Amino acid sequence: MKVTKKEMLYEGKAKKVWSMVEDDDCYIVEFKDSLTAFNGLKKAEELGKGALNNKISTQIFKMLETKGIKTHLVDTISDNEQVVKKCKIIPLEVVVRNIATGSLTKRLGIKDGTVLPFTLVEFCYKVDELNDPILNDDHCLILNAVENIEELNYIRETAKKINNIMHNFFKEKGLKLVDFKIEFGKDKDGNIILADEISPDSCRFWDAKTNEKLDKDRFRQGLGGLKVAYEEVLNRILS
Ligand code: TMP
Repeated sequence: MKVTKKEMLYEGKAKKVWSMVEDDDCYIVEFKDSLTAFNGLKKAEELGKGALNNKISTQIFKMLETKGIKTHLVDTISDNEQVVKKCKIIPLEVVVRNIATGSLTKRLGIKDGTVLPFTLVEFCYKVDELNDPILNDDHCLILNAVENIEELNYIRETAKKINNIMHNFFKEKGLKLVDFKIEFGKDKDGNIILADEISPDSCRFWDAKTNEKLDKDRFRQGLGGLKVAYEEVLNRILS
């Protein structure tokens, strides 16, 4: 697929989004090597991280498509770039949790590593200035993050479906899917589709045998070995 970047429309902490010459209905997404945590307070560069996330996310999105999940992915065009369908991002970070860790343990005092009795879906408002506050259904509606409760329920059910598919997929690869964050967008026909990325930046993966962390917690917690961990995730996905 031969495509040409036109104009940079957005630069976030981990990605740049470009319009493209060949197709007005698509964007080019460039995965950066930057790493941030704690809402950008901690920063670093890790050469090759963008390419790893591009490859990992592409594999996961393609796998989800085969299971009937509609995504924005069109194709990967280089080591760190992919073409995606244009969609309007719904300003919710949809967090799905199977095992308690991270902000959940801090917020509710649940012991780290506790297997949750059922899958927990949380919505956070995607606004950096507010530090992505957690929202309940009424907040989502009052903020017009979604148009109606049916849309929110669809997002929640799709997130659970994605969790089921990914949980089984990663179990076969010897990884526990602890939790993850996904985002959805609306395409030009009004369909809600999976957007953004699914990578070790946005998921927590623990080795099934050792519970070794194979995700961005290595950076958040200053454990080192981030790139080796991401390479391990990619190798297991491809195995
Ligand atoms: P948390 O425990 O810090 O709330 O994170 C839950 C999940 O969401 C975890 O897999 C990491 C992911 N996440 C992001 O992708 N972006 C973010 O900004 C945050 C805070 C978490």
